[in-house]
Amino acid sequence: MARLTWHGHSCFELVTDDDTRILFDPWLDENPKADIKADDIERLDYILVSHGHFDHFADAIPLAKRTGATLVSSFEIVAFAQSKGVEKGHGMSIGGGYRFPFGYAKMTPALHGPNVAGDEEGTFSAMPGGWWLDLEGGKRLYHAGDTALIMDMQLLEGRVDVALLPIGDNFTMGPEDAARAVEFIRPRTVIPMHYDTFEVIEQDPLEFKRLVGDTAEVVVLEPGGAFEF
Ligand code: NI
Ligand code: MN
Repeated sequence: MARLTWHGHSCFELVTDDDTRILFDPWLDENPKADIKADDIERLDYILVSHGHFDHFADAIPLAKRTGATLVSSFEIVAFAQSKGVEKGHGMSIGGGYRFPFGYAKMTPALHGPNVAGDEEGTFSAMPGGWWLDLEGGKRLYHAGDTALIMDMQLLEGRVDVALLPIGDNFTMGPEDAARAVEFIRPRTVIPMHYDTFEVIEQDPLEFKRLVGDTAEVVVLEPGGAFEF
C-alpha cells in the first residue's frame, strides 16, 4: 500500500509501495496547523515543490540539505535552491515528465503566482505547477498545487486515483470550483487541502464533500492523518 500523510496546508508525505519517501510542498516550522516540525522528518528521498510561495517552499531547502533528498520542481526553483547550496536537484517544466525510480512524475499546469520565497532579486520567477504521478504498481496521484479551476484538468480525466485539491478559495479554487474540478478529473478519491490555515481560506471541508456528492469519495484528513491506497 502507498501511504499519504497530510501535514497541513499542501504538505503531504507519500510513502510508496517500495518505501520511497516523497514530501510535497514542505511548510512545517511556521505553519500553525502542521502536526510536525521539519526536524521530525528523518528520512526523505524526494521533495516535490509545486511553486515558490513560502507556504509550499519554506522548509524545502533546509530539508533537502539535511536529508540529502532530491529537490524536484520547476527549473528556476531548483536553480534557486542550488544557488543556496542544495546539491541534488531535478528541474522540470510544465507539461514535462520524467521517469524516476519511484515512477513517472509530470508537472501539470496551474494558474497562480510566480514569485519564489527568499529570492530577494526576483531572478528566479517560476511558473507554478502541480504534479501527476504514475507510481510503480500503477497508482496515480494528482497534487494540484495552488491553482484556479482550469480546463486543462479535463486532460486528467480517468487518469487519477487520488486527487489532492485546494479548496480554500481566495488564493486558489474554492469548494465550488474544486467540486467542478472533481467532475473534470473523475478521481476515485479526493482529499481537500490548502484551507483553514489562514483566516481568508477558512472552509468547511464537509461542505466540499457535499458538493462533490457521488462523483468521488471525499476523504477529509486532520493534520497527521493518513490515507492508504
Ligand atoms: Ni501559492
Ligand atoms: Mn499557497
